[in-house]
Amino acid sequence: MLAKKYPSYAEFAQRQNIQGIFSSPPYIGLINYHEQHAYAYDLFGFERNDELEIGPLFKGKGKIARQSYIRGIADVLTNCKRFLADNYNVLLVANDKFNMYPTIAEKAGMEIVNQYKRPVLNRTEKDKGAYSETIFHLKDII
Ligand SMILES: C[S@@+](CC[C@H](N)C(=O)[O-])C[C@H]1O[C@@H](n2cnc3c(N)ncnc32)[C@H](O)[C@@H]1O
Repeated sequence: MLAKKYPSYAEFAQRQNIQGIFSSPPYIGLINYHEQHAYAYDLFGFERNDELEIGPLFKGKGKIARQSYIRGIADVLTNCKRFLADNYNVLLVANDKFNMYPTIAEKAGMEIVNQYKRPVLNRTEKDKGAYSETIFHLKDII
């Protein structure tokens, strides 16, 4: 269907027709994704960009890491806005222990219009305790 109307996904995106995004950004200081996906870099010969990873374990969860995380996610959202329709919806799964998402939303010119709690029963962190994470619903500031 897309192919009939638009010659490419790039053109589709540029027409700002994307109604929304549902994504799961990295949780701060939890995983080094370059290490987790190391086999892919080896197999395909991709250049590693560890320093550009948002919120990696090796940067920790301290003040500088948090500032860098806020800037990183806010920049991603700001970039995405170029391709989104006016009345877009962004849904982000986060375990926002440091209450960073209100600042992220503000920096990206978005507002959090709703928060849904999602119980997590199996997890990758070392202890196996159940907890709940948040799905943030963001929209453009009107
Ligand atoms: C929680 S995972 C979610 C992956 C995917 N959305 C999914 O649901 O399977 C977070 C992802 O963000 C990626 N990531 C971290 N920093 C990034 C960056 N600067 N640019 C692009 N991807 C990044 C990581 O490599 C990882 O794959």
